[in-house]
Amino acid sequence: MKGVILAGGLGTRLYPLTRVTNKHLLPVYNKPMIFYPIETLVKAGIDEIMVVTGGPHCGHFMSILKNGHELGIKHLEYAYQENEGGIADALSLAKDFADGDSVTVILGDNTSDADIVQSVKDFTEGALIFLKEVSDPERFGIATFDPKDSSKIINITEKPKTPDTNWAVTGVYIYDNQVFDFISQIKPSARGELEITDVNNKYVEKGQLVWSELKGYWWDAGTFDTLLEANNYWAKKANGS
Ligand code: DAU
Repeated sequence: MKGVILAGGLGTRLYPLTRVTNKHLLPVYNKPMIFYPIETLVKAGIDEIMVVTGGPHCGHFMSILKNGHELGIKHLEYAYQENEGGIADALSLAKDFADGDSVTVILGDNTSDADIVQSVKDFTEGALIFLKEVSDPERFGIATFDPKDSSKIINITEKPKTPDTNWAVTGVYIYDNQVFDFISQIKPSARGELEITDVNNKYVEKGQLVWSELKGYWWDAGTFDTLLEANNYWAKKANGS
């Protein structure tokens, strides 16, 4: 199993902060944001990791992560995403790095204290996505379940205006190597991006997508409010409250 962290994009929702550095290097309490997904992967026993980034401040990653050894990474690679072509476009750059293997993918603005070690160990094929119930489903990819079998996802809708459920797709995914074929088959969405939701729906069509609830704290830190919330959570946790 290899690990991929997607940390491209311009982070425009956090302008002007992201005019001087990449969103994923902004502080979340006492660490840069990207340390959190790295720690989730390393704790799950994944020590070969690729960071996909881009934009004008991509060099800053090397200053902080260096070769990754201080963070428990054995082998760290970087890839550069030319444009902000979407999450699936960023993931496509990890194809050679994956080299036929499965990949655990985490979005670089997601912080979580969930333990995914067992899911990584047990994974064999298809796709496993992690869901969480949220109060603002319009902001996320949202799962629709089979009315006869609520354990089965029949569709995922990206940022629905009238969501079927409150079950959001978090930015933590485990894929087998088919993921790279599926990415090559999808087309850009209305917002001009290759959507990870379309990739997940390819797995749904094949009957190869399963899900699990992400246990513990999880939040993305891509807006001022969610960044503040993530900072408060991790500060409290670090101070033992
Ligand atoms: O946080 C979970 C949500 O993340 C999911 O529920 C959605 O299905 C998924 O599409 C995504 O939605 P966002 O609108 O929050 O994605 P965003 O554009 O903020 O990108 C999330 C991360 O993905 C970002 O921190 C860096 C990476 N990314 C994004 C884009 C668009 C890239 O590496 N390259 C890109 O081109």
